[in-house]
Amino acid sequence: MANRNRNFIITIDGPSGAGKSTISKKIASRLNISYIDTGAMYRSVAWATLKQGIDLSATAELEQLLKNIKIRFQAAGEKNLVFCNEHEVTDAIRTPQMDQLASAVSGIPLVRDALLPLQRDAAKDCSAIIDGRDAGTVIFPEAGLKIYLDADISARARRRLKDQADTASINLQSVTKALAERDAADSSRAQAPLRMADDAILIDSTKLNIDEVCEKILALFFEHFQDISHEQTTTDKNC
Ligand code: DC
Repeated sequence: MANRNRNFIITIDGPSGAGKSTISKKIASRLNISYIDTGAMYRSVAWATLKQGIDLSATAELEQLLKNIKIRFQAAGEKNLVFCNEHEVTDAIRTPQMDQLASAVSGIPLVRDALLPLQRDAAKDCSAIIDGRDAGTVIFPEAGLKIYLDADISARARRRLKDQADTASINLQSVTKALAERDAADSSRAQAPLRMADDAILIDSTKLNIDEVCEKILALFFEHFQDISHEQTTTDKNC
């Protein structure tokens, strides 16, 4: 008999542009669970520093900002709306400037330490899919299913270019360069670098479309969580 009250966590890590957020939204919608976009949390901190004119080296001001920051998500059809201090920032955090600032912000230990409890809290008492760089290694090392989604840099750059809200000032070459720089920064930082958890399953999405990746993850989900019925995933949402 399936346990209808059991919550479960799926983590999905990997480099920028591998398709993590698109796939996570679809899986969350299909399994009727929460989607926690931890990258959007770093982007929100970046947005707030810019809005408040805080220099990233001003530790006391940054601490104050982190103490008061409120980040929340709201599912709206295919979209995952992001609110930072009650401002809707969904599109504002997806610019090349925010790509760079979020990457810099995510390398600051103070910021990582402040966001970690918020990330864990967001999935408290519910089933969720968490997308990030350290979701399976640091945020939820006990997750029942860990995916590491990768793709060639050229495929990732093409997808990232398509995602940008404002494409006037960028092209494939500049996106590829920026991605390579962010991959290097994400993988080499001292705290919680991007790396595949030992117990994660690698999916290379270079030659797969979104539906093919989703199918693979759903098959793994039902394999890993055999006590959760198909019925539960279409009726229950605990938070
Ligand atoms: O996934 P994204 O591009 O929205 O992430 C924005 C930045 O935050 C990116 O430079 C990687 C970083 N990040 C991180 O360090 N740890 C996470 N769990 C999620 C994102």
